[in-house]
Amino acid sequence: MNRIFSGVQPTGNLHLGNYLGAIRNWVKLQKDYECIFCIVDLHALTLPQDPAELRESTREVAAAYLAAGIDEKRTIIFNQSMVGAHVELAWLLSCLTPLGWLNRMTQFKEKAGKERDLAGLGLYAYPVLMAADILVYKATHVPVGEDQKQHLELARDIAGAFNRHYNCDCFPLPEPQIFGTAARVMSLRDGTRKMSKSDVSDYSRINLMDDADLIARKFRRAKTDPERLPLSPEGFQARPEAENLIGIYSALAEISPEQALERFAGQNFSVLKEELSELAITVIGAVGAEMRRLLSDPSHIDKVLKNGAERAAAIAFPILREAQEICGLLRP
Ligand code: TYM
Repeated sequence: MNRIFSGVQPTGNLHLGNYLGAIRNWVKLQKDYECIFCIVDLHALTLPQDPAELRESTREVAAAYLAAGIDEKRTIIFNQSMVGAHVELAWLLSCLTPLGWLNRMTQFKEKAGKERDLAGLGLYAYPVLMAADILVYKATHVPVGEDQKQHLELARDIAGAFNRHYNCDCFPLPEPQIFGTAARVMSLRDGTRKMSKSDVSDYSRINLMDDADLIARKFRRAKTDPERLPLSPEGFQARPEAENLIGIYSALAEISPEQALERFAGQNFSVLKEELSELAITVIGAVGAEMRRLLSDPSHIDKVLKNGAERAAAIAFPILREAQEICGLLRP
């Protein structure tokens, strides 16, 4: 059986990268897979959070899922901390995860920065919890943006380590699903860095709840090089900002980057930026407006999350029990 699991951290500022690289793709997958989409609030705690803002951001991510078209009746939507099985399985898995595997994780190195010894254990152990998120549902597929690839490879390694250690085939090795041109949306201020929730420059990203004016201003101010757009795909070499804007356009218009380039080849960036703004205002503006509507009734969102958590728990706990039994934990 195919089952999908994926998640987003409720750390504020949901952006175009989260939408195009992840959430939008999930909407289509609901037709063919059993899907579980989580708001990974425990992951958010790996860096300092304001409690009130965390609650707000959790509802905001839920609203984004619903506004994008995730159907809460068909698909399970919930926040991670509501289903304790994730953390319990994470412990079992952490006992089998060599430190050497975690030391390779580039996202830890980036987030911990120079002060590695001051970084929390949670930030370091984060990929084990992420593996547990997936394995506690025996998920077979995980749709994510490209930045999560390394964590997913680790999740596969951890699943394999468990199966080998206990000589069983308890956990399927989850397959990453990384889709197309928007798998890595880059910052509008620097085409060599990914668009990120934590970027200090607000002009680096389009947030899902930005209004039309702000979206237009951000695209107008997007960094570009002095040349016109290239005439062919080869012309993107060493022009990351140009490639990024064409990539975003193609993802929003649902055409290939080649088709997008054909449209703008040799033109000034201002023409592309104008059309990009219009398209983004239509697509993102609609999602943002629906998010705002949903957020005006938090009790409805809370009901969706509670219902989702009950359904998630009904799948996760029996799988946790199975793993506990395999490990030899007595459950009289
Ligand atoms: P997070 O919250 O950083 O990002 C959520 C999703 O958005 C994708 N994404 C992007 N895609 C394209 N371009 C970008 N600039 C961009 N920025 C973010 C991410 O790849 C992701 O798919 N560790 C995960 C959350 C997580 C998870 C899981 C995911 C926890 N447990 C289990 C899948 C399965 C994270 O921090 O995502």
